[in-house]
Amino acid sequence: MRYFITGGAGFIGSSVCARLLGANQDDSVTVFDNLSFGRESYIAPHYPNPRFRFVKGDLLNPEEIRAAIQGHDFVFHFAANADISKAMTQTDLDVKLTIVATYNLLEAMRLAGVGKIVYSSGSGVYGDVGTTETAEDFGPLLPISLYGASKLGAEGLISAFSHMFDMQAWIFRFANVIGGRQTHGVILDFINKLKADPTRLEILGNGKQSKSYIHVTDIMDAIFFVVECGSERVNLFNIATVDYITVREIAERVMAEMRLSGVKLSFSASDRGWKGDVPVVRFDLDKIHSLGWKAKHSSREAVDRTIREILESRL
Ligand SMILES: NC(=O)c1ccc[n+]([C@@H]2O[C@H](COP(=O)([O-])OP(=O)(O)OC[C@H]3O[C@@H](n4cnc5c(N)ncnc54)[C@H](O)[C@@H]3O)[C@@H](O)[C@H]2O)c1
Repeated sequence: MRYFITGGAGFIGSSVCARLLGANQDDSVTVFDNLSFGRESYIAPHYPNPRFRFVKGDLLNPEEIRAAIQGHDFVFHFAANADISKAMTQTDLDVKLTIVATYNLLEAMRLAGVGKIVYSSGSGVYGDVGTTETAEDFGPLLPISLYGASKLGAEGLISAFSHMFDMQAWIFRFANVIGGRQTHGVILDFINKLKADPTRLEILGNGKQSKSYIHVTDIMDAIFFVVECGSERVNLFNIATVDYITVREIAERVMAEMRLSGVKLSFSASDRGWKGDVPVVRFDLDKIHSLGWKAKHSSREAVDRTIREILESRL
């Protein structure tokens, strides 16, 4: 197989790249990334490998993506805007980096005859529905952030291209994905803040935000498991842990791992970290569980492992 990974220098993409190169000695991998959020150090170890190629390119440039995608069989599409709150000041960011970028990719796939795509969507498509456990067929889908709205738009484009141009797609709605390589997110934010000032920690929101946090190794297991058995034209799956953890508990676990005590915590009055943040997220996981897949780490285990991985890798 000749794999093509957009956003392959980022957190999840580089993890998938390493797994693909390690899995089958006949497979080759091309990473396509503009390094806007990703890190070259995540892919540089593969440079000597003749089965690996890095193309520094931008999905917003149709010529670049059309040239790079020639000769591939299977696309993993991870490139996106990583900073959800930035849409408050830059309203076209997600529209460009998710909707326009996904269209450019799908059109390049169509022209080059590349027929299979894995897409990384998220819980943001469901909107703010409190403690309702959302199954894949939940509706109406009314996102409350431009990030969520753009993910939904990209899902629609992928479905339409699949049906009109004989492609096959696996769309995953992930919980919060965490791991040592993460380039953003609450755990990294807390660690960075506490390193800068170990006496105090500012928490965005009231700390009661409650969500599933899944380790990137579980995400990869789920993706490869589902791609093997999902045979529909468009395969749609929620991927999360069965448990949930609050932002306050994450802060406590970070402080414990960093062996800090007496840290003064400050909260904001709002129930959410920023406009567009969904404070409570609950997934219905019956569909993927019925196939026989479950996350190996709970949210707490994933958080603890991630804290240790970040602290060890960024000493
Ligand atoms: N991390 C999570 O918690 C989570 C949850 C749900 C969905 N997702 C989705 O999974 C995907 C990967 O997330 P991640 O956490 O690895 O993010 P990331 O920021 O680490 O990786 C995204 C990569 O895309 C690249 N990129 C951005 N714009 C690009 C462009 N125009 N052209 C080429 N490359 C570009 C960046 O340089 C980066 O390497 C994203 O689509 C994200 O929305 C992530």
